[in-house]
Amino acid sequence: MSKTIADLIQDRFGLPTEAGHARAAEGPLALLLSHRTQRRYKPDPVPDDVLEMALAAALSAPSKSDLQQVGIVVVRDRGKQATIGGWIPDMPWIAQAPLFMVFCGDHRRMRRVSELRGRPFPNDTLDMFMNAAVDAGLALQAFITAAEALGLGCCPISVVRNHVEKLAALLELPPGVFPVAGLCVGYPLQAGFISLRLPPAITVHTDRYDDRDLPALLAAYDQRREARHATPKENQRYVERFGYTESYGWSEDKARQYSTPERHNFGPFIRRHGFGLA
Ligand SMILES: Cc1cc2nc3c(=O)[nH]c(=O)nc-3n(C[C@H](O)[C@H](O)[C@H](O)COP(=O)(O)O)c2cc1C
Repeated sequence: MSKTIADLIQDRFGLPTEAGHARAAEGPLALLLSHRTQRRYKPDPVPDDVLEMALAAALSAPSKSDLQQVGIVVVRDRGKQATIGGWIPDMPWIAQAPLFMVFCGDHRRMRRVSELRGRPFPNDTLDMFMNAAVDAGLALQAFITAAEALGLGCCPISVVRNHVEKLAALLELPPGVFPVAGLCVGYPLQAGFISLRLPPAITVHTDRYDDRDLPALLAAYDQRREARHATPKENQRYVERFGYTESYGWSEDKARQYSTPERHNFGPFIRRHGFGLA
């Protein structure tokens, strides 16, 4: 029999399952299960009608209270794209992508709507910020899924937030509009690979949150993941601080990643950029 949904679930977690063994690997479920980030692209441009379809799908994502607090900047100016890529030289796919976009949370529009309707707006809250960020994230996901359905590949770029002041100036993001992530888009050069996820036994809880088994489950996950794609020794992070580790895996990598302050510029930027976060 050809590939089934169960096969795709097994590819995703590296664990056996019976779920979906009688369903062919096709349709939206198969598309979601087959997701992979793509960082290398053919030079072919993304046709306008293809972009329009993917944008329409992105804007079909659900939205908190129907507030529709997403703003998407399509960076058509290759000079601006090169500038952003130049800030982040270790991610050459930013400058190379045939298309680059920035998905933003947009809280300004709602303030303007209130002003236009002459209504008060006593809602400068952290929740308001989160609603806009979530809306932007949902639109980003919907765009990626639509793009993959259209044969494209994508790579979100949160690292643009390391340069949030410059990015806001370059794209003229007014107060209340903040970048959630950039997005590289293009036709993939390679098949890419499925990135093994943490098992549902870690991420899915029943009736109450319970992470008692985390250490053992994590150790098994690290092993499964390394067995599939061993981290090359030269990819170990911060060896000057931590040295080389034999048992380098996802948990060691992430623990090393967060052993260093990351993006402490973002909170102050958001507070200066139109958010009280009360
Ligand atoms: C919000 C967000 C931001 C991301 N930022 C970056 C980034 O700055 N650079 C990058 O190369 N990949 C970035 N990624 C891609 C992740 O590394 C990737 O999704 C993850 O490794 C899982 O791989 P997969 O998407 O192929 O399953 C980002 C993904 C998301 C969802």
